[in-house]
Amino acid sequence: KKKVFIDNLISRMTLDEKIGQLNLPSAGDFTTGQAQSSDIGKKIEQGLVGGLFNIKGVNKIRDVQKVAVEKSRLKIPMIFGMDVIHGYETTFPIPLGLASSWDMDMIQRSAQIAAQESTADGINWTFSPMVDISREPRWGRVSEGSGEDPYLGSEIAKAMVYGYQGNDLSKNNTMLACVKHFALYGAPEGGRDYNTVDMSRLQMYNTYFPPYKAAVDAGAGSVMASFNEVDGIPATGNRWLMTDVLRNQWKFNGFVVTDYTGINEMIDHGLGDLQQVSALAMNAGIDMDMVGEGFLKTLKKSISEGKVKEQSVTDAARRILEAKYDLGLFDDPYKYTDSKRSQKEVFSPKHLEAAKTIASNSMVLMKNDNQTLPLKKSGTVAVIGPLADNAMNMTGTWSVASKHANSISLLRGLKETIGKDVNFLFAKGSNIYESEKMEERASMFGKTSGRDSRPAEQIRKEAVDLAGKADVIVLAIGESAEMSGESSSRTDITIPETQQELLKELKKTGKPIVLVLFTGRPLVLTEESQLADAILNVWFPGSMAGYAISDVLFGKVNPSGKLPMTFPRSVGQVPIYYNAKNTGRPLSAENTDKCQFEKFRSNYLDECNTPLYPFGYGLSYTNFGYSEVAVSNAKPSGNTSVEASVTLSNNGKYDGAEVVQLYIRDLVGSITRPVKELKGFQKVYLKAGESKKVTFRISPEDLKFFNNDLKYDWEAGDFDIMIGTNSHDVKTTRITWTK
Ligand code: IFM
Repeated sequence: KKKVFIDNLISRMTLDEKIGQLNLPSAGDFTTGQAQSSDIGKKIEQGLVGGLFNIKGVNKIRDVQKVAVEKSRLKIPMIFGMDVIHGYETTFPIPLGLASSWDMDMIQRSAQIAAQESTADGINWTFSPMVDISREPRWGRVSEGSGEDPYLGSEIAKAMVYGYQGNDLSKNNTMLACVKHFALYGAPEGGRDYNTVDMSRLQMYNTYFPPYKAAVDAGAGSVMASFNEVDGIPATGNRWLMTDVLRNQWKFNGFVVTDYTGINEMIDHGLGDLQQVSALAMNAGIDMDMVGEGFLKTLKKSISEGKVKEQSVTDAARRILEAKYDLGLFDDPYKYTDSKRSQKEVFSPKHLEAAKTIASNSMVLMKNDNQTLPLKKSGTVAVIGPLADNAMNMTGTWSVASKHANSISLLRGLKETIGKDVNFLFAKGSNIYESEKMEERASMFGKTSGRDSRPAEQIRKEAVDLAGKADVIVLAIGESAEMSGESSSRTDITIPETQQELLKELKKTGKPIVLVLFTGRPLVLTEESQLADAILNVWFPGSMAGYAISDVLFGKVNPSGKLPMTFPRSVGQVPIYYNAKNTGRPLSAENTDKCQFEKFRSNYLDECNTPLYPFGYGLSYTNFGYSEVAVSNAKPSGNTSVEASVTLSNNGKYDGAEVVQLYIRDLVGSITRPVKELKGFQKVYLKAGESKKVTFRISPEDLKFFNNDLKYDWEAGDFDIMIGTNSHDVKTTRITWTK
């Protein structure tokens, strides 16, 4: 039925109308009632627009859709996109925070709610999930992804696609996902956004490709090309990437959209003029042109000159029309524009409650000396720091639909939840940064840092005096929302100096300090980890930040998050990641842990090899104990499976959840293999005093990798099976697997 419908439609389309379907302008800011007379409105009427993005509001969307389906010749409805990255108006933690939950059901639920709200508000296509693996904390966009690991990243990619798309795209509460940024966008040289990427094919296939492929296998309906080059050709014009890998090897049958002006940017990459780069993109396998209008302006000419085949344009238009068909837009182009539904479902109390639960489960307890946390519900608490009473900065980067000002600040959350039992005092203590240049550069979407123009010493003294009156200090410091995200790379990944000064001065009061860390990336926290008694990393927790943090600080929720990305000791260690290679001159394990230098070994004169906090790390208010690893068969052969298990015990006083992690090391291979690779995890909830056997089933499928011929297979030999609480602290047993 779909084929007949689309064949019929295509047979009636002119070449201009087909090219029009490939055009995705940003809606700009025309207001309701002006849709038709705006520049874009005129193009829509001529059938020259396939979809719009950057448009919010049911009435506006209805208005402009009306132009497409009532005024254009073929009445083809438009698709409406948006960067719904971690929630719509109800905003969840930034993706790096969501990843820290290691809870796939929660992550899927967050995407489902995002789809519920977006579709209630007219949007049917999200530019998410962003699944770029990254080992680069200097790169601001690590905040939008799931961190450094291909296995965790792939699980999350699937959960997000299922959450957005459900199992039926034609329902009015599911939306089309867009996997981005294909490919390798997370590996820019020097961590500088949009910079050159240069990587071996082995690295691509084994480390960076898996999450994109997982999202495609999960049925993602669209893919976004990345800005960077891959093997010397920008992804947007890279036929090997878009056609050989994506379509032929992975069998992707949705449509590919460029990133914003991605085609035009190939002129600056040095690949020709607009006509040449547009033809390059079309011939590579791009279907839709975001904003740049290269297709609109040049494809017809390229076809007449024989540089592009008309069939390529027809195929691209077909894929976009198929997506519209799958969404049910040909049956009802207004299906997402019911204003009653929008009022009821967007930013609803039910969704906000879910956002609170998800946020508290995403927080990572990084230090907790002397059981400083959870806090007692009595006495006086000094709440200090530039992020303590800062609603605007709670939602983090890429939260374009969020109601920033309605977010719950930490101070508000504490007062409203525990205010009857605890006396909360507040002082700002410092600005986020003193540099005005930084203020100007790192403010976007109205999210200024909330700067106080008084001298830093004066703001600080006020806080130190206040701290003297309290039993404990809760210090909310870190990055502002826009210090991470797109175009927010940093060479210095520490907390800005003025906040560090504040911490040092507060330390002198002798009061216990609980550092509540806001960040969109792994930071270097070497000094802070010495000075603070407890550190709770809350990332950017979203709309319900203050309530969720309060729940964790006061023990209503026992923290269970684990880091999806390594925290270095120094920026000089970057890139630093757990699944590294052994090298030919490794430092011994003992000296690595002792930070003992060895000449002519792979280590630094001035820094340890170990990170400050490893991948997978996160504490709990309770203590979890691990037994040794038991395996069902230490000498498996061929295509069988082995069970590896540990007994996990909750030896502490609190109920809580632990993420039990399985790592495998392939000891001898035809190519060098990582020292360990995550191959499974389970989030296990145990009551205080309870124990449970946790079992992983391992099969040869888990041992496969791409070898030097890019063949995906496993090799017989010895394997270390490691199970533990993070990538460093594991129990190990060895097995020998023969073919
Ligand atoms: O989706 C984004 C992308 O991640 C970065 N460039 C702009 C796109 C659309 O807003």
